[in-house]
Amino acid sequence: MERLLPFRFDEGEGVFWLLDQRRLPQEEAFLPVRTAGEMAKAIREMVVRGAPAIGVSAAFGMVLAHLRGEEPEEADRLLRGSRPTAVNLFHALDRMRPYWGDLEGSLREARALWREVEETERAISLHGARVLRGQVLTHCNTGPLATGGYGTALGAILEAHRQGRVRHVWVGETRPYLQGARLTAFELQRAGVPATLITDSMAGFLMGRGQVEAVIVGVDRMALNGDFANKIGTYALAVLAHHHGIPFYAALPLSSVDPRLETGEGIPVEERPGEEVTHLRGLPVAPPGFPAYHPAFDLTPHRFLTGIITEKGVLYPPFDEALRDALGPS
Ligand code: MRU
Repeated sequence: MERLLPFRFDEGEGVFWLLDQRRLPQEEAFLPVRTAGEMAKAIREMVVRGAPAIGVSAAFGMVLAHLRGEEPEEADRLLRGSRPTAVNLFHALDRMRPYWGDLEGSLREARALWREVEETERAISLHGARVLRGQVLTHCNTGPLATGGYGTALGAILEAHRQGRVRHVWVGETRPYLQGARLTAFELQRAGVPATLITDSMAGFLMGRGQVEAVIVGVDRMALNGDFANKIGTYALAVLAHHHGIPFYAALPLSSVDPRLETGEGIPVEERPGEEVTHLRGLPVAPPGFPAYHPAFDLTPHRFLTGIITEKGVLYPPFDEALRDALGPS
């Protein structure tokens, strides 16, 4: 089967093509991106989303800036302002900084970043597969579409299924943006993995009936003590899993750890328009004008985590020590 990728770079034309994730699963349409400003807009409007995928896209946004003769400083500013929570975006832009004014260097670095995403996710998938079995539940979308690689949490699920360890996946729909229903279900179906879609509010019922053997999610930003931000709804799942004694894992590349943050308190949480709650793909589901609140992420304290799955292996408590060892000397 053809590999599913959220983007491709046409070097000849100098165009970065983004698979428009707003239109999935109905339509597989690619959107051309030619400038850093267009890339920042595409990231903000969720044409491409998922922490590692927006990191790689931002890096190529800087390549586009060089190709189009845009001021690197301004391109960097626009890209940094696109979305606040996933640290991968800022990590990617920090990596591109030494190549400001150097087209070839910026292209080499963006390609290297993309390759590293693939390599680290292969390792995450293999380590993660070892701790999963039976029926697992996941939230949001953490597969190839979210990363440009193999996927983090979903990469581990796909690998565990290949190895015969996981037999069924519960997919939370992930209100309000429906990344689970639209994207994870799409990826699992393409991969031929037995899976069932549930609304987010059904998770506790299934856990209470013993139908969930592990929960695994991705990460947008993790602090040095293991507290982390991920898609809204993750915290509720962590509390539920804890209550039911079900293992709860977060899977991430170590580049998603923010070494400046000791705890999760400092992680900025993006607030998106209330219309994304009052409307489902343009259709109103609430009275006109009714106020709605939309924090796009939540913060999960490390004490609810059973293990942290990284490219260096599965880390267990105490997470502050384990993360410092895995990150190595700063
Ligand atoms: O708002 P999104 O769709 O960008 O949020 C994505 C998530 O929360 C993912 O779980 C996270 O980025 C990890 S992706 C491997």
